[in-house]
Amino acid sequence: MRSFAGKGAFVTGGASGIGLALGRAFAAEGMKVMLADIEQGALDQAVAALRETGAEVRGTLCDVSDRAAVERAAALTIAAFGKVHVLCNNAGVGVGGAPIDETAPADWEWAIGVNLMGVIHGIAAFLPKIRAHGEGGHIVNTASMAGMMSGPMMAPYNVTKFGVVSLSESLAAELNGSGIGVSVLCPGWVNTAIGESQRHRPARLGPPQTPTPLALERRAQITALLRAGISPDEVAARVMAAIRDDDLYVFTHSVMRAALEERFRRIRAAYDKADAFKP
Ligand SMILES: NC(=O)c1ccc[n+]([C@@H]2O[C@H](COP(=O)([O-])OP(=O)(O)OC[C@H]3O[C@@H](n4cnc5c(N)ncnc54)[C@H](O)[C@@H]3O)[C@@H](O)[C@H]2O)c1
Repeated sequence: MRSFAGKGAFVTGGASGIGLALGRAFAAEGMKVMLADIEQGALDQAVAALRETGAEVRGTLCDVSDRAAVERAAALTIAAFGKVHVLCNNAGVGVGGAPIDETAPADWEWAIGVNLMGVIHGIAAFLPKIRAHGEGGHIVNTASMAGMMSGPMMAPYNVTKFGVVSLSESLAAELNGSGIGVSVLCPGWVNTAIGESQRHRPARLGPPQTPTPLALERRAQITALLRAGISPDEVAARVMAAIRDDDLYVFTHSVMRAALEERFRRIRAAYDKADAFKP
């Protein structure tokens, strides 16, 4: 996608962090922006801040894990803007902190509902509407480097982010040649509020598990890494470039390349072993 002015963008998790930065970047390009989020207070503030730039910005309360709510938000956006060209399935929660065998089913449900089903609902609700206007567009799904490599104590998060990478690769294959591009955003550490995701934990899932000393230690490490992370605006600038260039993969941390290469090396070594295997 090369031209942005006057076109419509829908961003989930738009009240904070990377989503808000994406909204800011789209507004700066003269797009009409709908921010969708579960947190009303932060959403109101985000909409007010972006409106100060003179952009056409609106907000809608929407829990992305709820298919009907996402469908309603899509209908509202079309009613407001006429068309949507850019969809960012960005809302996410940092769920984890325990070994797999000690992770509560409720935590799996929460992570899968928001991080994976949220993206699936976004595509189902908006893709037909993007196709229908025939002007092309772009879908950006926020995964993570956790969708490329699996560290300990964060399995619910890692599994959903690998899912988002797979979903995006599948979608790109399905939309090849359609004029609708697909990008999967895989950032490393970004200085946002993702470490405070418990603020969004649905009451129906019950209270969080009491963290073990090991989990508390890991949480403190993650908080420090997030605070030292890059700015959400830097991530949004990378996304803008990826939409322009129609790039499938969007990385932000070249420092993490070596760890990814190590994963590929082990996969290649396993293939070498398979090639040499004689039953
Ligand atoms: N911060 C990082 O280091 C980092 C790294 C890789 C990937 N990511 C991903 O980036 C995305 C954005 O996160 P962020 O870092 O900006 O964190 P953030 O907490 O600042 O923003 C997440 C937003 O999602 C919203 N949200 C949470 N649950 C929701 C739901 N059910 N429905 C709708 N909105 C909901 C929150 O209210 C919040 O505004 C997430 O998908 C996250 O997994 C973040």
